[in-house]
Amino acid sequence: MLNYLSDLMSALFVGDSKNSAMSLTQDAAFVELKRHVEASEKDVQLLDWFQKDPSRFEKFTRHFKTPDGDFLFDFSKNRITDESFQLLMKLAKSRGVEESRDAMFSAEKINFTENRAVLHVALRNRANRPILVDGKDVMPDVNRVLAHMKEFCNEIISGQWTGYTGKKITDVVNIGIGGSDLGPLMVTESLKNYQIGPNVHFVSNVDGTHVAEVTKKLNAETTLFIIASKTFTTQETITNAETAKEWFLSKAGDPAAVAKHFVALSTNVPKAVEFGIDEKNMFEFWDWVGGRYSLWSAIGLSIAVHIGFENYEKLLDGAFAVDEHFVNTPLEQNIPVILAMIGVLYNNVYGAETHALLPYDQYMHRFAAYFQQGDMESNGKFVTRHGTRVDYSTGPIVWGEPGTNGQHAFYQLIHQGTRLIPADFIAPVRTLNPIRNGLHHQILLANFLAQSEALMKGKTAAVAEEELKASGMSAESIAKILPHKVFEGNKPTTSIVLPIVTPFTLGSLIAFYEHKIFVQGIIWDICSFDQWGVELGKQLAKVIQPELASADKVTTHDASTNGLIAFIKNNNA
Ligand code: F6P
Repeated sequence: MLNYLSDLMSALFVGDSKNSAMSLTQDAAFVELKRHVEASEKDVQLLDWFQKDPSRFEKFTRHFKTPDGDFLFDFSKNRITDESFQLLMKLAKSRGVEESRDAMFSAEKINFTENRAVLHVALRNRANRPILVDGKDVMPDVNRVLAHMKEFCNEIISGQWTGYTGKKITDVVNIGIGGSDLGPLMVTESLKNYQIGPNVHFVSNVDGTHVAEVTKKLNAETTLFIIASKTFTTQETITNAETAKEWFLSKAGDPAAVAKHFVALSTNVPKAVEFGIDEKNMFEFWDWVGGRYSLWSAIGLSIAVHIGFENYEKLLDGAFAVDEHFVNTPLEQNIPVILAMIGVLYNNVYGAETHALLPYDQYMHRFAAYFQQGDMESNGKFVTRHGTRVDYSTGPIVWGEPGTNGQHAFYQLIHQGTRLIPADFIAPVRTLNPIRNGLHHQILLANFLAQSEALMKGKTAAVAEEELKASGMSAESIAKILPHKVFEGNKPTTSIVLPIVTPFTLGSLIAFYEHKIFVQGIIWDICSFDQWGVELGKQLAKVIQPELASADKVTTHDASTNGLIAFIKNNNA
């Protein structure tokens, strides 16, 4: 108890030597930033800044070297100037970003609402430096599980591991939800080109359609189920896992065959054993791994099986390189810090409500969905670390789809809607599929570049009018249509150019965003590591399920919920 209290106090006051104990809106650095932007920057056109400052691009770009080539982060199409950039960095200092970052890396229990360290960085600590939690170095355990994963992957991929009829495993089904699904799903999709192992499938939704449709195509003799659940109590996952076991036994017959076809990834060994998993087919992780950061842990097994363990290690290497950058780079050069602070500018000074993630790479089609959880589950909080209600906005709504598809769906609103929608455009210089002599990729990149240019430049009435005149339109028609042809422009974007999608570069990209989310949580003085908000719905669902099953009229809820229940029951004949 005493330990808990002292951990709680130290976690609460990490960074409090600075001003993070103070509401963001009271922080002098924030007040100064807001005043400056409102007085001198808010109404300026981005394009004017480019015209005034020929070095703007060089000034606001950052490079990051990897063995697979350089990343370029172009922040220059954002509403920042030398002054506001410096004020943003001053704010980061004032909020104690550096102290909080160091607290995370030194395993302080910064997830104080759950009394846990936040140590996904230990899972990719490729330098193997000791990291102590409660006085114990976690690295031997991390390395032990990695060695187990390696051995397992090699057996599966080589065909040494066989199913109950002696056949090689051709298909793996990851059963999990949230962080136990989205990370492995996003990464296996992004790295499909590197597949050397079995095909992977994902079952997450408790809607029986998901498991039914996935198993329909599979052969039980050659299928392995990975039950991925940190807690091993998540209703959706356990229900799907039981259903998968039933399906498997309906084909295999013999319960002894389960051991060859079911493995578990969890922090909860007893529960997994209770489910029927052989303890040697358990891949463990620890409470200091948050669900939404768990792809670096045993939860990454489906990734490792799909692309091979060596490639999985490269993914870890890529993230580690960014961890080193985050820890060792001054704020002004620190890429996750810059990403975060520009987001804070839009969120808290410009009042933007959303942030779009737009990868121009089909392999990365689940990237935005992945960071929807990463960001919104982390920073969707209204209470400060000191227990008071915030008087400012916290985490943005994160969304997006790959370009160019998004262009033909929702970009209209970004270009000509009424809201400010900051967006990250992400694209690889080189494609993994240079078909037709690279023609597809050239078109893709042309669109990637054109969109952020169009968003910034817009189209004035004068230019639109010239175009209409040149098309031969009458003056009367021009007068009618002209207002609709105007793009105001001045829409901010960050362009992130990666060399090519590889395990290393993807690992790096994910880590950049993870640390960005972390920094923003510090600025907003919230606990980014718990997710109490999802619990209430879970509790209520447990109450409603038996009510749906019973024949009795339900009157225990509000009139709307009672009415919906009655309608569903009456029409379920
Ligand atoms: O309900 C939210 C959540 O707790 C996520 O944070 C987590 O990733 C997901 O559920 C799945 O949890 P588990 O891995 O314990 O099944």
